[in-house]
Amino acid sequence: DIKGFVFDLDGVITDTSTFHSQAWHQVADKVGVKWDDDLADALKGISRMDSLNLILARDHKENDFSADEKNALAAEKNDNYLKLVSQMSPANILPGIQALLNDLKAQGYLLSLASASKNSPLVLKHLGLGDFFTKSVDPASLKHGKPDPEIFRRGAEILNLDPAQCIGVEDAAAGVQSINGAGETSIGIGDPKVLAAADINFTDTAQLTLANIKQAMNAATL
Ligand code: BG6
Ligand code: MG
Repeated sequence: DIKGFVFDLDGVITDTSTFHSQAWHQVADKVGVKWDDDLADALKGISRMDSLNLILARDHKENDFSADEKNALAAEKNDNYLKLVSQMSPANILPGIQALLNDLKAQGYLLSLASASKNSPLVLKHLGLGDFFTKSVDPASLKHGKPDPEIFRRGAEILNLDPAQCIGVEDAAAGVQSINGAGETSIGIGDPKVLAAADINFTDTAQLTLANIKQAMNAATL
């Protein structure tokens, strides 16, 4: 039986995945790497430095910058991102999410956060959702980022649950891969072509209701 939910943050609970994209797009322009939707999708769920390396590798520029220069570019991206985050409020919670969290809490499901973002505590604070996520995996403590299963495995562990008792919710292909590798049931939010590996798919968070999840769990051959 499902007893817990392990949530990604950016692009699932809130619309910050577009903020991350905007902030990286500015850096890509600066280093002369062409930005497109595929690159934006490939960066979802990926840690800050891995993201920068992926952008540079797009144009075989990964060896053109020293470690110091890369750190400066990553810091610049984070400054861009923090400017966007500073404007955030509960209005940035994606459709249906507040209702879902209320339902899950009322029904006694355990919740944890498995976000790759070091900014997740700040974002949760702006959203007013800190009380729902008292348990989160610290991304700084991970050996491997998404798509490695480590983060979602830890998301179950901090709830004292087996992965099989958990549903993981993700908007990134790398995140769905992490959930599947951890042995949890995966829900992908977004384009079913990008998230083909998910056990269950919803095109947007408005469809992510407890009733729809239960129905999909019964329909899916898991
Ligand atoms: C993930 C985002 O949640 O966090 C990525 O999907 C981001 O786009 C990653 O790169 C790391 O975030 P941060 O805030 O630590 O740079
Ligand atoms: Mg995400």
